[in-house]
Amino acid sequence: MGKFIVFGNKKLNGEVTVGGSKNAALPLIFATLAIEGVSTLRNVPDISDVGVAIELIREQGAAVVRGGGTLTVDSRNLVYRSPSVDLCKKIRASTYLLGAMLARFGKAEIQDFGGCNFAERPIDMHLYAASRLGAKTENGIMRADRLTGTDIYFDKQSVGATVNALLMASRAVGKTRIFNPASEPHVKSLIGFLRRAGVKIEERYGSFTVYGTVPESADFEIIPDMIEAGTFVSLALLTGSSFKIRGVNIGHLRSFLEPLVKSGAILRLEDGALSVGGEIDAPLHIVTAPYPDFPTDLQPIVAPLMIKYSGGSITDNVWHGRFGYLDELIRFGGGYTLSGNRAEIYSGKLRSASVKAPDLRGGAGLLISALSAEGESVIENSEIIDRGYENIVSRLSALGASLTSLPSSASSGKV
Ligand code: EPU
Repeated sequence: MGKFIVFGNKKLNGEVTVGGSKNAALPLIFATLAIEGVSTLRNVPDISDVGVAIELIREQGAAVVRGGGTLTVDSRNLVYRSPSVDLCKKIRASTYLLGAMLARFGKAEIQDFGGCNFAERPIDMHLYAASRLGAKTENGIMRADRLTGTDIYFDKQSVGATVNALLMASRAVGKTRIFNPASEPHVKSLIGFLRRAGVKIEERYGSFTVYGTVPESADFEIIPDMIEAGTFVSLALLTGSSFKIRGVNIGHLRSFLEPLVKSGAILRLEDGALSVGGEIDAPLHIVTAPYPDFPTDLQPIVAPLMIKYSGGSITDNVWHGRFGYLDELIRFGGGYTLSGNRAEIYSGKLRSASVKAPDLRGGAGLLISALSAEGESVIENSEIIDRGYENIVSRLSALGASLTSLPSSASSGKV
């Protein structure tokens, strides 16, 4: 198990640039399987989840060249192979193999898909979409000689099920309407990519209409990571530092920034860089829900602010049980009580602590808390943070933070 050793309570200076979005890059990497041509993806983050996704598409015969944040994927000569169970278990986005492989080969295997284990993560909606488009499932294998356009009605918004529905519909014969789709910026960027590849997609309030075709080459730039941007904003507030954050799409972060500003944070946008000042002087009450509401992935990132400042509450309407990280977080101070999907969080002075990262975003919340707390903190299982934050130790060090990474003795520490 790798570790971060953090010497906290340092003022941070200078500037940091937000990297490409993990949750936008992953669907696009799998989408290249549905394309019969050469795709170029730019601003691809160098994180371990991306490495696993690349291995998974290489297994299917994709020729991938990676250099300087650009990924070129030649998917003209693919051959169906069973995806490695071990790789699928490492990342949640391996579920996108269902849609991409059904679209390309008419066959896909239901696996033990991985990802952060903060809640039950069912795939019934993915399977529903596949079956609506004509796939039949037997012994864990889905098959469709021909995907056929249809109407798909989701009873709640799911990023993953919407991504898979879009991938399958992009190659289905005829028109598919997807009702109540997720509309996160990363879902919209998949739509942008598929359009570049020649798929006609119409967006209406509450539905997408996709006209299937054989998608060809596309060149696309990954959007900035809104969760990483939010992490830097919280870090600035926690450490009282006004370093510059470049590459933030403010529009994507509106629901995160608004409550902070209402409670005392001061945002400055100068020369395209965001800096954050002020202090949180009132309790924060956060309710997560699908985009454009407050993102669930930022709730473990905002909780440290509640501990440092005036407390507050988090109601998570996306992942009801996403509070496992709180037992670790309160080692830095404060406290909490839990009732159903609502946590009441109490403030307390932040002090150094030894903790274990339970999942990616929970781990990031622990890291920014350690950077704010006086003294030496240790974060075990640090490799889980590498899943979503590129070169985090060197980028934080460049801001003046004092931290080191100790890889696990058994391996390089990467997932
Ligand atoms: N759901 C179902 N059935 C399904 C699929 C989802 O009931 O078949 C439910 C889930 O249980 C949950 C809700 O629908 O209550 C939303 O889940 P969603 O499918 O949107 O989540 P996901 O696609 O598995 C992605 C991100 C997560 C992020 C969620 C919500 C990726 C690779 N993962 O997961 O990101 O929390 O959307 O925004 O895009 C992270 O980056 O750390 C992360 C966990």
